[in-house]
Parts: sequence; structure tokens; C-alpha cells
Amino acid sequence: MQIVTSLPDLRTARLSLTGRVGLVPTMGYLHEGHLSLVRQSQAECDHTIVTIFVNPTQFGANEDLSKYPRDLERDLSLLRPLGVDVVWTPSPEIMYPPGYQTWVEVEALTHPLEGAMRPGHFRGVTTVVAKLFNATQPHKAYFGQKDAQQAAVIRRMAVDLNFPLEVVVCPTTREADGLAMSSRNKYLNEAERKAATVLFRALSAAKDLYEGGERDAEKIRAKMTEVLEAEPLAQMQYVSCADYDTLEELDVVKGKALLSMAVFLGKTRLIDNFVLG
Ligand code: PAJ
Repeated sequence: MQIVTSLPDLRTARLSLTGRVGLVPTMGYLHEGHLSLVRQSQAECDHTIVTIFVNPTQFGANEDLSKYPRDLERDLSLLRPLGVDVVWTPSPEIMYPPGYQTWVEVEALTHPLEGAMRPGHFRGVTTVVAKLFNATQPHKAYFGQKDAQQAAVIRRMAVDLNFPLEVVVCPTTREADGLAMSSRNKYLNEAERKAATVLFRALSAAKDLYEGGERDAEKIRAKMTEVLEAEPLAQMQYVSCADYDTLEELDVVKGKALLSMAVFLGKTRLIDNFVLG
């Protein structure tokens, strides 16, 4: 496993890879969710590049950039046994050199949901992912359904900017009790960790309603709200029942829909989603 930091070293490492290359972009503090993306890349490509970069430009001023968990040695020890070929760990100065002023912005898809709650977040995500695509030149790039809007936005960007690669979206990996794996779960204390299953419970209750024939999106949103409000440690930020492609809120569910939510457990903000239809 080659571990590189500088751009010239990354380019040399990339040139040494022949055949189809898969890219798994991450911010590190890896868990089984990240590793499932790596395994899918390994299964579909000849070589896999993993990037570890806590991207400052996607964090808001009041968000957790400085506290974001980091443990490079642990990350590398998780990636080595999987047979990853290259790990790229650029510094902020490499990604954003002095005088930096170029940004990639996707429009309508970034306006609702996470984009509405986290102004500037997706501009940071699309900019860094475009830079990662340019630097690593992958044939396929792997993202998690856990961050459904992020995956949709990156897919849009890749089409719109003619990136010659396939964006692959992989299923959400969950703990045994349904909690979606996330680097941020480590912030939860014991009581919050127990209460955090409320996201999965709310999504499951809404899905049951849908499977029972309910198509009124407001009733589906109300069910998620009801389950979330019954959990005293949880503070709901939003619930959504939106069109799967446009991410616009629905009145009536027809075709594919995305159920999603953001919920605070204490200071920790968690997101999760299910796809209907
Ligand atoms: P990060 O939060 O580290 O996630 C890296 C990738 O792992 C993302 O595609 C995310 O959707 C996926 N992932 C996270 N938890 C998952 C889970 N439980 N199951 C399946 N996949 C999961 O997302 C980012 O980093 C950044 O925004 C990034 C794309 C790297 C750009 O900076």
C-alpha cells in the first residue's frame, strides 16, 4: 500500500496503476461504512485509491472542523488488510494553495435539505471532489447512500462537467440496532447513543405507513416527526419526503421518493434516509 501526500507523489503512484481504478473519497476516522465502499471498489476495479482529507471548505463556521475525529494510523491499519493500492492524504495547503479562488457549484439540487441547513457545504464538497477526481483520474468513484443528497449532487456534477467516470452509490451500513454508521457517532454519550436509534425507528415507521398504502407525503412526514418527538434526547431539525430525483418536497408520493431527516442528539447532528419505491 503506497501512502502519499504531495501531488507529484500521487501522480507517480497513479501512473503505476494499470487497468481500472476505483476511488473512495473519505474524511478518515474510517468505519465499516467506508470499508464497504472500499470492498465494492476492490470487487469492481483492478486498483483502489482511498483519499483521507478532512475538507475545511465543507464545514460551516459553527461546525465541528477542529473537533472532527482524526486517527491516520488507525485508518491505515484498517485499509492495509483490504489490499488498497494507494492512500492519498493531502494537506489543506496542497488542496487549497495560497491565492486559491476556484469553486464548483451545483445549483437547484443543493438548495433543499442539507444545503438549506448548511449554507456553503455542498460548494465545499463538489469543489474538493472535483479536485480529487482530477488528481486521481478514476474510472469509478464510490459514495454512500447514507449521504443521499451528497451522492445526488456529485452524480449531477460528474455528468455536468463531463468527468469520464461512473459514480457508484453503495448501501448504508448500519449498526445491529439500525443506527447508520458515522464518524460522528463517536461523539454520542451512552444515553444519546441509545436514543440515536430514533432516526431508524422514525424512518421505519414512515416506510411501514407507505407500505400500508399511505401516499400523502404530509402524513408520512408527520409520522417521522411523531416518532422523533417521542424521544426526549432527540431534537429534530428537519424531516423530508421528497422526489428522489429533484429532492423537492412532495404532496403525494408517486414513483421513487427519498425520506430523510437531520436530528440533534445533544450537540451531535445525525442524518439518515430511506428510499421508497
Ligand atoms: P465521509 O463522511 O468520511 O464519508 C466518506 C464516504 O463514506 C461518503 O461517500 C459517505 O456517504 C460514505 N459513508 C459514510 N457512512 C456510511 C455508511 N454508514 N454506509 C455507507 N457509506 C457511508 O462524505 C464525506 O466524507 C465527504 O463529504 C467527502 C465525499 C469525502 C468530500 O470531502
